[in-house]
Amino acid sequence: MSLKQLAIDTLAKNDRGGFTIPTAGLYPYQWNWDSAFCALGIATYDMDRAWAEITSLIEGQWPNGMIPSIIFRSDDPDYFPGPSRWGKTHGTIPSTGVSQPPVLATVVRQITEGPSGAVRRAEVFDAIFAWHKWFHDARTANGIVATVHPWETGRDNCPEWNIGLDQMEIAADLPPYQRMDNKHINPEYRPTQEQYDKYLTIVHFGVSIDWDQRRLTDEGPFLMADPNIHFVLLRADKDLLAMAKEMGKPAQVCDQIVAWIAKGEAATDYLWNEDLGAFTARDIRTGTFSTGFSNCSALCFYADSGTSHQRARTADNLRRIASKVDYMLPSWDPDSPDFEAQRYWCGPVWPQMNYMTAQGLAEQGEAELAREVRDDLCRAIEKSGFWECFNPLTGEGCVGSNFSWTAAVWLSWQHETKLEGVA
Ligand code: DGY
Repeated sequence: MSLKQLAIDTLAKNDRGGFTIPTAGLYPYQWNWDSAFCALGIATYDMDRAWAEITSLIEGQWPNGMIPSIIFRSDDPDYFPGPSRWGKTHGTIPSTGVSQPPVLATVVRQITEGPSGAVRRAEVFDAIFAWHKWFHDARTANGIVATVHPWETGRDNCPEWNIGLDQMEIAADLPPYQRMDNKHINPEYRPTQEQYDKYLTIVHFGVSIDWDQRRLTDEGPFLMADPNIHFVLLRADKDLLAMAKEMGKPAQVCDQIVAWIAKGEAATDYLWNEDLGAFTARDIRTGTFSTGFSNCSALCFYADSGTSHQRARTADNLRRIASKVDYMLPSWDPDSPDFEAQRYWCGPVWPQMNYMTAQGLAEQGEAELAREVRDDLCRAIEKSGFWECFNPLTGEGCVGSNFSWTAAVWLSWQHETKLEGVA
């Protein structure tokens, strides 16, 4: 069977009726950015189904505009922390109390291109605008859109978060719990127990303040700026503005988005770590920088942000890292003592990150690096299949198998390559 057909079958197997789970067992619900990437892949062969992915995600939106990281349409005893642990949340469907990198506007713009997409864009514009507004209003700290939980960044146990987590105490009254992820997967691939206790401490705090999002940002136990959320949102704001203009939205809507973009551009410098020549995470309360180049450091290209000096040093770092691994782009710097080739966000290659990084590099004239980031992931997929992530030294699959966004990214790239070939 062709890899294209296998990819379509993978997405079909993970289809739960209008939304797609990342993979059975380990992640049995609808995840926010997973769904957006699924839509990208599904749109290459079934636009109506791709659109259902997007509208079902928006069904989870809270009245304050936030679209949560996970939407719990059922209560699956095989997953922890499920709906009961997140307590009373604010949407009509139970959910987590944090969000995830907002790739939706960019995906919507991409898959609805052309006049026939206008009706679809009009259907979701206000919801996406409200979500971005929520990020800018409820999560801004020190002039940058921050994050309150490693789960919100989508990069759970990346060593970037150590400086924030190290300062945190595990809540003395943390209710006992049983992890389920380690029942599905070798614990050596997953976050440590101490990290989990801290993740749950933040959830415990959120429940205690009834998920008041402004308080969670201001008073929560963890507050860091994340290049992933920053650059993804900046890109998404630009895509939202382009759609707003095409749709003839009123000046006040366009002006609002223009102001968000200006704020984002001004904040990019806050994440620049001149010592490393890299955009890294930063603890907002102490100003401390993270210690390594990650697989979101080069998203400055995707957001079309940063100075030419910053971009040149970022590209130098990419070339250095490419000389150390067989498969770009590792999630953590292979020269760092915290690098672990198989442990989740401490080293493995992540398909959605390669997708965004390659797209940005290609758009900004770094064709060779873009090709390498794309082709290396394709080689890993051809070698191992549709895994959640891949060992950057060997290309072996890690963590979840039969993974939706990996299949979706593959389909999207195959589709684009075909178009390139035709053009
Ligand atoms: C998990 O359960 O590991 C997820 O990454 C949380 O969003």
